[in-house]
Amino acid sequence: MTDKIQTILAEMTLEEKAALCTGAGPWTSVPIERLGVPELTVSDGPHGVRRAIDAHAIVTESVPATCFPTASCLASTWDIDLLHKMGVALAEECIALNVDVILGPGVNMKRSPLGGRNFEYFSEDPFLAGELAASMIDGVQSKGVGTSLKHYAANNQEYQRFSISAEIDERTLREIYLPAFEKAVKQSKPWTVMCSYNKLNGVFASEHSYLLNDILKNEWGFEGLVVSDWGAVRDRVAALKGGLDWEMPGPRQQRVQAVVEAVRSGELEQSVLDESVRRILRILFMAQETPKNGSFDIDAHHQLARKIASEGMVLLKNNGLLPLGGQPRIAVIGRAAKEAHFQGGGSSHINPTQVSAPFDEIQALAETTELTYAEGYPADNSFNQELIDQAVRLAQAAQVAILVIALPSFKESEGYDRRDLDLTDQQIALIQAVGRAQPNTVVALNNGAPLAMSAWIEDVAAVLEGWMMGQAGGGAIADILFGKVNPSGKLAETFPLKLTDTPAHINWPGDAGKVHYGEGLYIGYRYYDAREMPVLFPFGYGLSYTSFAYSNPRLSASKFKDVDGVVVTVDVTNAGQVAGKEIVQVYVHDRQSTLARPPKELKGFAKLELQPGETKSVSIKLDLRAFAYYHPEHKQWVTEDGEFEILIGASAADIRGRVTATLESTLNLPCILDKESTIREWMADRRGKVALGPLYEQIESQSRKTFGGGDERYGNESAIGMDIMEMINDMPLYSVLMFQPEAMPMSPDEVVDFLLQQAYSIE
Ligand code: BGC
Repeated sequence: MTDKIQTILAEMTLEEKAALCTGAGPWTSVPIERLGVPELTVSDGPHGVRRAIDAHAIVTESVPATCFPTASCLASTWDIDLLHKMGVALAEECIALNVDVILGPGVNMKRSPLGGRNFEYFSEDPFLAGELAASMIDGVQSKGVGTSLKHYAANNQEYQRFSISAEIDERTLREIYLPAFEKAVKQSKPWTVMCSYNKLNGVFASEHSYLLNDILKNEWGFEGLVVSDWGAVRDRVAALKGGLDWEMPGPRQQRVQAVVEAVRSGELEQSVLDESVRRILRILFMAQETPKNGSFDIDAHHQLARKIASEGMVLLKNNGLLPLGGQPRIAVIGRAAKEAHFQGGGSSHINPTQVSAPFDEIQALAETTELTYAEGYPADNSFNQELIDQAVRLAQAAQVAILVIALPSFKESEGYDRRDLDLTDQQIALIQAVGRAQPNTVVALNNGAPLAMSAWIEDVAAVLEGWMMGQAGGGAIADILFGKVNPSGKLAETFPLKLTDTPAHINWPGDAGKVHYGEGLYIGYRYYDAREMPVLFPFGYGLSYTSFAYSNPRLSASKFKDVDGVVVTVDVTNAGQVAGKEIVQVYVHDRQSTLARPPKELKGFAKLELQPGETKSVSIKLDLRAFAYYHPEHKQWVTEDGEFEILIGASAADIRGRVTATLESTLNLPCILDKESTIREWMADRRGKVALGPLYEQIESQSRKTFGGGDERYGNESAIGMDIMEMINDMPLYSVLMFQPEAMPMSPDEVVDFLLQQAYSIE
């Protein structure tokens, strides 16, 4: 293919090259008939194929396709095989609907539960998001259909998403906001990556050479094309220089002309344009290798969507009411029981092939049980006491009340952030009233992100988080309520008790064009752990109809080299009466590190299926990256010698086993000491310690002599009432020397320069 591309490139005119770098229409590229360059068609995802009825015209109507559950639900499955299967199904639909590239998945971090688009993203944890996205991409691309990993990068809110500058320090960017992209790019090689609308540290993502050229293309080896989010390009020439290959949507004749002129005037190097054209051509020809036509199995995909939904729903509370069975009268309450709320608003909105309403599916599984129905809350979201009273009367006349409650789209959608974590006033009052009137009340929720529940959760017997569950989700709700499926989903994001507890709260959503990521590394459970704060439901939490016992946690080695990694193993037993699935989570805690680290971080997980009484061993490999952190001064991932605690948990707050291992770092980091380095930094550095060691002893004894301390009279306390070395250790070497001129044969500058030279000369 390389030769073919080279030949075409050589034959293309400057105008043709410039035109190829911008779309032909809302969803297609510019074909060049005379050279046999095909057209590329893309369609929105990420949880279904939103194929416009006419890909060349701006229409919002799309052809029917399976609406799978949205990403919050997918992530709660923690099931990479299932995501792979969904990827394959999406690709089959793309092929049938004549789509070359599906625009997804999205792997932005859930920095705040208020993010309006959180339903389209996986998690607050970069490791989990990366694993899931990589598997889904592998699934799609295994069929010769491309993906677009989005929105790169730091697009974590909807407020001013087209312009706001996310102000993020380098370490936070590398450890929290980029790893999911990095994992997916390196493992799964998505055909395309979509840049985001926002700025990162003052520069538009579409022009961000550090993000696009340095990190994505050079460091991670991305070979596909970078496409803009729709309308994200401000300056086409700057964007090409910044690494943005394909601008969407088109046509944009002025932009094309600007590129032509920039090349002619020498402002834009021809080679930069050629590189983008080469990347685009490569993807066009890759897409052409998969013939598009035929049909897909509508029913099989609907069933797959049901299966995924039932694996991703999370049972949050159950006082023993669930699973249901044998109750002669069930009241089903809530509009969403009949009008299923299964997806979010915006570019991901799918025209479903069919929809299973929870009411019908509950009826199907309840068999002879009589179902009654009340609307519960009105379509216009106003407050209506009569609807509540009616629901209460129905609940009282039944043995069980099932409330199906959906967060309305005015509270959650692409395009705007949420203002609070609450259901509507009517919905809260409805749940309280029905729950108080009927002790056997279960709430099934349809929403894409955490809700506050303190106002009503004590009033009800059970809560099922049903998410934006996809078109078949009604069946999944019924499957779980009636025990046809034993729930196994676990939260991929923390449910806080209240909004003011959340990590980004005081920096959200930013102002004056900037949003400061002041909480740094501490998002999600990293924050609640560090603060030792209670939450409503922790990361990784979810109930089952059985229980699991963990035993015998062990490691492949108690000492290991970072490059070898280590394998952690644990036995898990199904201690209950029914078959079930358990999601085992492995977190790593660094006992001591030069830079501060979150108390623990997810670095591995596995989902196991166990029959009653059955025990299985699960082994999870932890590689170098599981122990490393990003050092902003070294500009690389580093490991440090020392002890790590490996925590095996059923959730972030439910650690069932701990093992300790000692890591030996094989890194030989370059020296980064400088004139301002503190004594402590000198002594923590391998080379610094050798260089400064002898003088350090002198400094210590001189300080003790001057200030007292370290002898029988004072203990460690000096004559001025302090442990003088505690202070001195945190002073730059230079400053300390300024205080001890008599001890030095040379000036402080000369001493520091000499020692730095010595340190830098050590191998
Ligand atoms: C969204 C993208 C989407 C694109 C095309 C944008 O507004 O942010 O996620 O793929 O539109 O619809």
